[in-house]
Amino acid sequence: MKGIVFTVFLEFVEEIFDADRVDDIIELAALPSEGAYTSVGTYNHQEMLQLVSALSELSHIPVHELVNKFGRHLFGCLSSAHPQFLEGVDSSFQLLASIEDYIHVEVRKLYPDAELPRFEYKFPRPEQMIMTYHSTRPFGDLAQGLIEGCIAHFGENIRLEREELSTEKGFSTRFILRQQD
Ligand code: HEM
Repeated sequence: MKGIVFTVFLEFVEEIFDADRVDDIIELAALPSEGAYTSVGTYNHQEMLQLVSALSELSHIPVHELVNKFGRHLFGCLSSAHPQFLEGVDSSFQLLASIEDYIHVEVRKLYPDAELPRFEYKFPRPEQMIMTYHSTRPFGDLAQGLIEGCIAHFGENIRLEREELSTEKGFSTRFILRQQD
């Protein structure tokens, strides 16, 4: 996992808790990197899972809730770091539909060692979009937070539902988005 995700995560922890909490989770998680992340480095994604579970242990907030909140925050950071992906885009459906064939393609050019998920899309009706997340890593909650961050960014009224899909290996989650009038 790219260092930018870790540096943004530690900033997020400092923002919603404080700097001591950052030190505490790094210590509790006993990480191979010792929490010394640079945004361009690459680290084992297990470290993210360890940090989040340490934060959950200390804060008594469930992991899925923390990851979801972090995903919303991450969307804001990624979109301000890469404003070109939002240029000319005026809806969540448009932005989310561009992740697989555009945003993450460009991300891979910037960071050839990025570990990215795969998305499949369906548009059964104009007001409905189904996007299915596939990854070898368990970041469906992060995807949900990113999707919610995107919806909040555009200020749209969209109802989001999710379903876990069973797979032989890896993780898949189906997200159903419905525009409300
Ligand atoms: C401006 C928009 C975005 C940028 C620049 C971006 C970039 C990135 C980067 C740099 C990573 C880390 C790759 C690694 O760890 O090696 C990542 C991972 C990820 N991205 Fe995006 N992303 C964007 C939008 C989104 C959105 C809207 C979603 C919503 C579903 C999404 C879903 C994910 C997920 C779930 C991961 C974690 C890796 C995994 O699950 O396997 N991204 N993205």
